[in-house]
Amino acid sequence: MKTGYEKYVPFTPIALPDRTWPDQHITQAPVWCSVDLRDGNQALVNPMSVREKIEFFKLLVDIGFKEIEVGFPSASETEYEFLRALIDQDLIPDDVTIQVLVQAREHLIRKTFEAVHGAKNVIVHFYNSTSELQRRVVFRKDMQGIIDIAVSGAKLVRELTEADHSGTNFRYEYSPESFSGTETDFAVQICAAVMDALGSTKENPVILNLPNTVELNTCNTFADQVEYFIRHLPNRDAAIISVHPHNDRGTGTACTELSMMAGAERVEGTLFGNGERTGNLDIVNVALNLYTQGIDPKLDFSRIDRIREVYERLTDMRVPERWPYAGKLAFTAFSGSHQDAINKGHEYMREHHSETWEIPYLTIDPADIGREYEPIIRINSQSGKGGAAFVMDHDFGYHLPKAMHPEFGAVVQKECDRTGRELKADEVFALFQREFLNISKPYALSRAKFYEEAVAGSAANITHFSGVLSAHDQFIQLEARGNGPIDAFFNALKDANITDYAFVSYSEHAISSGSDSQAVAYIQLKGPGGQHFYGVGTEHNINFASVKGILSAINRFESGMV
Ligand code: KIV
Ligand code: ZN
Repeated sequence: MKTGYEKYVPFTPIALPDRTWPDQHITQAPVWCSVDLRDGNQALVNPMSVREKIEFFKLLVDIGFKEIEVGFPSASETEYEFLRALIDQDLIPDDVTIQVLVQAREHLIRKTFEAVHGAKNVIVHFYNSTSELQRRVVFRKDMQGIIDIAVSGAKLVRELTEADHSGTNFRYEYSPESFSGTETDFAVQICAAVMDALGSTKENPVILNLPNTVELNTCNTFADQVEYFIRHLPNRDAAIISVHPHNDRGTGTACTELSMMAGAERVEGTLFGNGERTGNLDIVNVALNLYTQGIDPKLDFSRIDRIREVYERLTDMRVPERWPYAGKLAFTAFSGSHQDAINKGHEYMREHHSETWEIPYLTIDPADIGREYEPIIRINSQSGKGGAAFVMDHDFGYHLPKAMHPEFGAVVQKECDRTGRELKADEVFALFQREFLNISKPYALSRAKFYEEAVAGSAANITHFSGVLSAHDQFIQLEARGNGPIDAFFNALKDANITDYAFVSYSEHAISSGSDSQAVAYIQLKGPGGQHFYGVGTEHNINFASVKGILSAINRFESGMV
């Protein structure tokens, strides 16, 4: 035998030079079918118990699945019992169809019909393997032998349905298993024979499910196979084209989306991609991809954390931290430039009252999937100035002015370097408090009053300030006037011989914590050596918040914090 990569035979793509799928756009959600309780469950180290399956089934119903493959009742006692529990305990909503899988073999098909007795809506999903490799290596049958298996299965399924007068609404699904490795003309031939045997019509169409049982090549080749199949299928209107992608090459999502562009109307997959080997298609991924394109996915993932928690508990599988949408780190930006851009995006949306999502690096609003309370940005030594400002804004409601970001960012960076670890949001806030907010030593006001004086013949009032400043354990009476509160206070500081500072800029906003609403003032001063630095003050009254901000800045400078 050849060794290394030379022992592998490359996949031969079909010829479809006039393919049309690359120019198509996905404009609506497909019909979804969850196969978590069958394909997903059969691939678990410890398959779920009946109780766990019932809980999982309810989760799928809550998410909005209308077609749910509940198992392979003819092959497993637990699945048979589970199915009976669903039916006997009346746990299946009227608008949900259960799907049961069965090989196209007589005794298994008969047992499957017994298992579903009494259900309202049932899809009987039968299959046999059709690929060249499986025919040669596993079944040792020629094409006709494989068609015969499928057609006898179809005839029996139809016969048992027609003999059933219990009121069950039966539909059929046929899968040419290992479709991706099947000559596409042969897949067409066998599916057409099955349709004939079932008597499929436009009014009563069969679901033809094309499994990418094993991903064998790039996803464009799968899309070609699906388009080719659809174009060559006789009586096309009498079939619903479904796909069932797996993920051997890590491209399950891409194969699904391209095959939808190629005409697939229905998609089978699992939550978070559980399933055989590298798993099935992750339906959450494709559904939320649609959502981000402005398309209603018709599934509700607005509480993704809860869904992930139930999934992990019941399957004992883990959703990796960087998994799209659901991973714990899916909305966490570590890099400074990313944090900065996200921060700017939030500001931009607020300033422009944006109606649409315009935040770089985040394809979806985390709040839409119930993740609004997660820290979107984590602060470590790689974070830039924007990250810390974002946390202050997003978590605590402080809109730090842009000119303050570098100064605050440097304080945060220093603390990260000192601790050698990531800082939690509360720690960022504690730094802000310690380094900028209402700093009251050496100078603090023990009394203060502003009043306005109207000037005859002038539209502008004069503002008077009077107060008592405690400075280095002394009390100094201040009294001055100015053309506004900040000007008046600056003039008053001259009484305490504080004359080295010049006012540079000011911004303010309201901030509320609980029922308490306060004003916050950000004051930028210029020091004696020309340095610019900030101080922040909060108070119920905006004038007093400004005064506290000015003193905070001066105190920072006087205490060597700048
Ligand atoms: O992956 C597969 O081909 C299957 C079929 C039984 C549909 O699971
Ligand atoms: Zn499968």
